[in-house]
Amino acid sequence: MSRRQWLQRSGAAAAGLALAGAAPSSAAVAAPPASTVRPPFHPRDVQLARDPDTAIRLSSNENPLGPSEAARAAMATSYDEACRYPYRAYPDLINAIAEREGVSPDHVIIGAGSTEVLCMAGAAYGLDGGEVVAADPSYKGLTRYAETMGAYVHRVPLDDTMTHDLDRMDRRTTGAVKLVFVCNPNNPTGTIVPADRLRRFCEAVSHRAVVFVDEAYYELMDDAHRASMVDLVRDGHNVIVARTFSKIYGMAGLRVGYGLARPDIVERLRPYSMGSPNVLGLRAAVASLGDAAFRTMSRQKMAEARTFTYDLLDDLGLDYAPSQASFVFFRTGRPIDAVRAAMAERGVMVGRPFPPFTDWCRVSMSTMDDMQAFATALRDVMRTSTAMGG
Ligand SMILES: Cc1ncc(COP(=O)(O)O)c(C=O)c1O
Repeated sequence: MSRRQWLQRSGAAAAGLALAGAAPSSAAVAAPPASTVRPPFHPRDVQLARDPDTAIRLSSNENPLGPSEAARAAMATSYDEACRYPYRAYPDLINAIAEREGVSPDHVIIGAGSTEVLCMAGAAYGLDGGEVVAADPSYKGLTRYAETMGAYVHRVPLDDTMTHDLDRMDRRTTGAVKLVFVCNPNNPTGTIVPADRLRRFCEAVSHRAVVFVDEAYYELMDDAHRASMVDLVRDGHNVIVARTFSKIYGMAGLRVGYGLARPDIVERLRPYSMGSPNVLGLRAAVASLGDAAFRTMSRQKMAEARTFTYDLLDDLGLDYAPSQASFVFFRTGRPIDAVRAAMAERGVMVGRPFPPFTDWCRVSMSTMDDMQAFATALRDVMRTSTAMGG
């Protein structure tokens, strides 16, 4: 399906995309709403953890193909190091990332998952009423933390192709805005901004604020679309790029991610770090970086799962956003809470509400066995659930 056809079919414009966030007066900085404060273990995560082992988890964009054999071997030979603080493992990973990205080591900062890098930036630029511009809906790791720190977040609705509205985000970046968050590919929609357009945006806007480009799914993009903004970091722009070992490398539980930025920006983030990943995760990350074959395999398997999912959704006549990530966002036409519950009853866990798209569902890509189980459950749910308002 072409982008235009998808747009026509999706009716995304009618799904509440005109909900522009109201601009605040820059003087009025509200206290963080209680709802933005996230405890270390969110009730949703605890709920997930309580589910029986047999549940098929397609709700958190995990990648069950990993960790790779190389990562497992690196961990197995690192147990003796686990009684030590990771003073050596940490620079080893920094150097490996720097070499791969063509930057010097002082351009790299490591976090406990890229979540920690998002939080560092949320704090560094959001504290004391700094303003942040972000698309909506998009990944909330940075904006939620920034709000907790007292920031005001300008939420700019996605456009009618469920893509970042960069023109509008550009216009919104005025006065007190200190950071602009771009998630590419975007979570939860999987959509991307074309690289040349994003590069022009970053070049223009980074004169007014730091542009944070979250590239959590970068390695999973098709060859034809894969483009990073790291060259802007290399060229000294006011840009931060974040990446993670959770997605393509299947290491979500090991908690390793990183940011790439100019050394002075890295130094601005560093005081807000809360710690460091553990030594096994760091060793696994170094091994993963060196494993091109695993990267290729992981990308291919996720792409196969996407194609399978598109075929299923086409067969069911359900609209979806074209995805370059390890999940697909599709429209069931029914309240997502009801769909989630019905799928969970059938042993398959899928996404959560992403307002204003509350009749859309995000499903994570996984092994073909998991995707087959998802297909069986979804066909059943879509066939049976008139009681759900469908
Ligand atoms: C866009 C995006 N950024 C960042 C993260 C955080 O990943 P992690 O903290 O595991 O690196 C996620 C996780 O789902 C994500 O989807």
